Amino acid sequence: MSVKALKGFKDILPGEVETWQRIEQTARDIFQRFGFNEIKVPILEKTTLFKRSIGEATDIVEKEMYTFADRNGASLTMRPEGTAPVLRAYVEHGLQVKKPVQRLYTIGPMFRHERPQKGRLRQFHQLSAEVLGSGLAMLDAEVMAMAALVLRELGLTVSLEINSLGCRKCRPGFNQALVDFLAQHADKLCNDCERRRQTNPLRVLDCKNEHCREQYKNSPSILEHLCKDCREHFTEVRKNLDLLNIDYKVNSFMVRGLDYYCRTTFELLTDNLGAQSAVGAGGRYDGLVKQLGGPDVPGIGFALGLERLALLMEHQGLSSPESKADIFIAALGEEALNRAFILVHALRNAGLAATMDHQGRSLKNQMKQAGRMGASFTLIMGEEELSRNKVILRDMASREQQDLELSTDLSSWAADLKKIINQNPS
Ligand code: HAM
Repeated sequence: MSVKALKGFKDILPGEVETWQRIEQTARDIFQRFGFNEIKVPILEKTTLFKRSIGEATDIVEKEMYTFADRNGASLTMRPEGTAPVLRAYVEHGLQVKKPVQRLYTIGPMFRHERPQKGRLRQFHQLSAEVLGSGLAMLDAEVMAMAALVLRELGLTVSLEINSLGCRKCRPGFNQALVDFLAQHADKLCNDCERRRQTNPLRVLDCKNEHCREQYKNSPSILEHLCKDCREHFTEVRKNLDLLNIDYKVNSFMVRGLDYYCRTTFELLTDNLGAQSAVGAGGRYDGLVKQLGGPDVPGIGFALGLERLALLMEHQGLSSPESKADIFIAALGEEALNRAFILVHALRNAGLAATMDHQGRSLKNQMKQAGRMGASFTLIMGEEELSRNKVILRDMASREQQDLELSTDLSSWAADLKKIINQNPS
């Protein structure tokens, strides 16, 4: 029996990967415009890193991490998200010294043992961006504008929801109000909320259970419990979003699934992916860098989910086509095969995506193959043509053919052929 991929772990096949490349390329380009530098961080980290940052009483840490003991007995975890590893690297390498405000992004796989469904995987990929070193509300608006621009340049329409979760000063007051409210409704809560009521009350607002959600409609609002500084910060964020013409909606129920957030949080949402409506999310995490042993610098960031973006692109008819060959060489006979072998190399050197059949199949089969590969042109090298030092160039779309004279100077011959192909792209 053949071995299959793990549940929730997906292969990204040719034909799908091109859309992924486009998303990554667009994001890299925009991140660079906003002054971000790429950082690559390991997939495996010490478990304590995530416990200390994401929070012990979160779903991710409680039940979703891929954690195991390595051969020396150390507890390691496959990163469930990118912020903690990037901050760990920032602290470890003292990156604040080089630039007072560091803008870093990373792209790669993350791992969460969730129940797989459309848009929710156990290995998924994030484009994750962090700004470390400034608490200015302008930056909150700027990172949201950057995320929105990635989506816009991909041709996607999503909505932005924002909230403020307050800070260490005002959050306890809200927590208490929420705990009091939950105590009054304890008999109507689902088991998860009943547990969260004790361990991490804020999390209840994230509950997907309809009955719970109904109760929480009348729960206290965090926005009414913000301290003066947090209130002013949130007002500034909204003002700055308006200045940049970014549409948003305030959603005071948005609490996010990670404990490190303070003040601004946000989500980019779509109606087109069923239950998995967030294509991206983020927020401010002032205090986290210090908590991880670094300087006391504020930070803000977000992550976009590549799988969800790719699904959305597909849903909106924006998938990129599978990459194609410019030219396919159909060689007939042994001598042609040998000459094609050298020719295809010259064409690739000249910058063309060139390919050939090595199996000596019939012309009909080779033409079929060229068609299946979506080649724009075919170069037919038959024995008869070669004896006259010629080859036939066929435009696969118009079916027009022309004879081309071969030359001993293969590199300039290939460069000329490239010009012909570029003038007549199919
Ligand atoms: P998050 O909300 O857990 O935030 O994830 C961000 C995005 O990753 C989600 O909006 C979604 O698109 C994608 N995502 C999450 N889990 C899955 C999954 N199981 N399958 C497919 N896609 C998924 C964070 O991870 C934070 N580190 C974001 C951040 C960066 N905050 C500040 N800086």
